[in-house]
Amino acid sequence: MAATPQDSRPILVPLRDVPMPDIFLDEWEEVDGFQAHPSDLLVATYPKAGTTWVQEIVDSILHDGVVSQCDRGPMPNRIPFLEFKERGKQRPGMQKLREMPPPRVIKTHLPFSLLPKSFLEQRCKVIYCARNAQDVMVSFFHFDRMNKLQPEPGSWAEYFLKFITGNVSYGPWHKHVRGWWEQRMHYPILYLFYEDLKEDLNREVRKVMKFLGREISNEAVASIVKHTSFESMKENPACNYSNVPSSIFDTNTSVFMRKGQVGDWKNHFTIAQAEVFDAVYRRWMEGSDLQFRTQL
Ligand code: A3P
Repeated sequence: MAATPQDSRPILVPLRDVPMPDIFLDEWEEVDGFQAHPSDLLVATYPKAGTTWVQEIVDSILHDGVVSQCDRGPMPNRIPFLEFKERGKQRPGMQKLREMPPPRVIKTHLPFSLLPKSFLEQRCKVIYCARNAQDVMVSFFHFDRMNKLQPEPGSWAEYFLKFITGNVSYGPWHKHVRGWWEQRMHYPILYLFYEDLKEDLNREVRKVMKFLGREISNEAVASIVKHTSFESMKENPACNYSNVPSSIFDTNTSVFMRKGQVGDWKNHFTIAQAEVFDAVYRRWMEGSDLQFRTQL
């Protein structure tokens, strides 16, 4: 049966030079005009950089390490996704945010350049998490294969070219990670790295606690570390997105909690791709002191 506009995948349309899924751009004024409260906390990432991981860590900390409280609902109900939208439907995140009294935790993948102004005017705290480009590319490829709300990724070779030319949702990786990195001096932004979380989760949980001004017992921190391990989160329906209908997430193709590793890119990049990527990467990061680890 031919795809109808209702069930076809989105296409990318530029919003102030940033390619975005066309569906998200419907009634964009709603996002742009969002009124943040000074107590709101934003979790911001480029897609596939460990958003859900940081969300679960933050939610656990805000519940003083009583991790059972994080089972109160699926992630998008606990931490709404600001700009997300399905075709022909209301923005679910926006609807939830209207009903939630501050302080709220809000998820976004927006680059700094598209962030609604009120987050900055209100000087809301932001936790930004970045992940190395190669692993993001691999994770995004598998995600786009299974997620019908993303444009078709094509083959790995095709996707590789899309990614290095920035022709993916939310635009080029380097502009996103650099944009937020440069602003961390001017706004209350905690800049985390996926690779650091993998290296020492206990240390990174404590960093987030400090940023949020929370003190939690050692036992409770240990339970947060256990609760937010890849193995626990993979089995946890409150954060593994297993409740998303198969018409949206085709779990026969891939799963949301896929591998959770640093360095999986080595299983995907050909030698020729690695060489092309290195040359592109040098240009991307020219003049920046932002550095990533691609293996641990
Ligand atoms: P992979 O596809 O490489 O496995 P996001 O939440 O931004 O969409 O990121 C999803 C990526 O983060 C996926 O990467 C997922 O497996 C990984 N991830 C989620 N929770 C994790 C955890 N607790 N530990 C390690 N990786 C995690």
